[in-house]
Amino acid sequence: MERTLSIVKPDGVRKNLIGDVIGRFEKNGLKVVGVKMTSLTRQQAEGFYAVHRARPFFGSLTEFMSSGPVVLMALEGDGAIKKVRDLMGATDPKKAAPGTIRADHADSIESNVVHGSDAPETAAFEIGYFFNALELL
Ligand code: CMP
Repeated sequence: MERTLSIVKPDGVRKNLIGDVIGRFEKNGLKVVGVKMTSLTRQQAEGFYAVHRARPFFGSLTEFMSSGPVVLMALEGDGAIKKVRDLMGATDPKKAAPGTIRADHADSIESNVVHGSDAPETAAFEIGYFFNALELL
């Protein structure tokens, strides 16, 4: 069993896609083991995406991620990290496979509806960034 962190980003919440995203995860065998809705401050978004601090899109990304409510989820399942990434599709919706969340709903590489951890170490950091032990099943 593996755990990963997913976020319905502000554009996904604005487009009423919370149920669609969680539904896809649940239908594909992932279990929600922690969930909360909140608005990130700019500082919280910067801390979460600290690994991207040197990238040219860092300012825009953290502004976008703090532009409205998000849904934070810890998910558990067999191969959960890859499963979530497969269901999301490529970061750039133009390159995302048909039928994936981003191909179906994302507007751009930045407004791409959903986030998922990319490796076990990142998943551990990202789950711990948003959830404490009492908030996880
Ligand atoms: P995410 O999976 O949340 O991880 C980092 C985010 O940075 C990514 O999704 C995109 O939303 C964003 N991102 C990645 N590359 C670019 C880019 N070239 N321009 C703008 N945003 C980007």
